[in-house]
Amino acid sequence: MEVREWLKRDRFKEPLLVSCLVRVLFQPSISPQCDDGGVQSIPLHQRPDLLETCADLVNSEWQRSRGARVHSLQKSCQEFPVVLLLLQGSRNGNGGDETLLGHVRLSRVVSHRGSLFVESVVISKAQRGKGYGRTIMQEAERYARAKGFSRLCLTTHDKQHFYAHLGYVLSTPVQNAGIMASFVPMEVLGRFSRHTGTNDNLGEVLGGPPPPPRLLPSPSPPSLPTPPALPPPPTASSPPSCLPPPPLLPAQLLVQTLKETPYRDAKGVPIFWMHKDI
Ligand SMILES: CC(C)(COP(=O)(O)OP(=O)(O)OC[C@H]1O[C@@H](n2cnc3c(N)ncnc32)[C@H](O)[C@@H]1OP(=O)(O)O)[C@@H](O)C(=O)NCCC(=O)NCCS
Repeated sequence: MEVREWLKRDRFKEPLLVSCLVRVLFQPSISPQCDDGGVQSIPLHQRPDLLETCADLVNSEWQRSRGARVHSLQKSCQEFPVVLLLLQGSRNGNGGDETLLGHVRLSRVVSHRGSLFVESVVISKAQRGKGYGRTIMQEAERYARAKGFSRLCLTTHDKQHFYAHLGYVLSTPVQNAGIMASFVPMEVLGRFSRHTGTNDNLGEVLGGPPPPPRLLPSPSPPSLPTPPALPPPPTASSPPSCLPPPPLLPAQLLVQTLKETPYRDAKGVPIFWMHKDI
């Protein structure tokens, strides 16, 4: 008899327990992943004991109240957004030497089914320059691929050379669904997106603004719920994030290079858009 059947028929009558066990036993295992140096990545929602340590790590780079940070990190879930942790060493017990090396968040992208948005990449200050930034990005790619995604998108204020070194190319704006995707279906977000359709040929920005904002249907279809207000756009004091798309400078600066960008965040700080096909 198959294990799945055995679990259902003979041992466990409680449906919730059965469903949990089936999920654990039969879900494709994509984490944690270990390399030879004892470094592994794992979704934060599988290690809630690391919530506060993770909040401190992210706050060491982008200041915010600890409560607010923990609250935001608690949104990590299997359905996105997901927070991936980079860990080294072994877990607790006597002599446990586990260290949190880094953090990255992955969210869905509105109207781009194959893309994920990478945010808040951070390696702890003491561990920078040792290759862990590259490792956490590789882990993000591995996680995304295993979930069926084929592109990672991101914005950065000043790490465009780091990302270019890892194979990212300059790109055009997309709309980060962030936590919205956890309570509004992606199809509904897509309908209200400011970017119409998908642009599978992003590449370097050769000039010209992103597509004009799409007008809301009028009157709204009665079957569609009105989405809640979107989260605010990125600012210089927060990790780059992307709702709504940033305003552009005047026409003479519309070429994006690794040195110059026409894009600005909500505070007017230059921001680079990049992506990588994985
Ligand atoms: C950006 C950051 C994640 C890089 O992590 P890191 O562990 O220091 O980087 P790594 O040691 O893995 O570097 C990997 C490669 O990128 C290169 N690199 C690192 N930082 C770079 C930079 N700013 N510009 C260009 N190349 C860079 C390294 O030389 C290395 O090259 P190599 O593998 O060919 O030797 C880290 O510096 C950090 O957390 N910074 C603060 C938070 C931040 O700004 N995050 C980005 C938000 S968009």
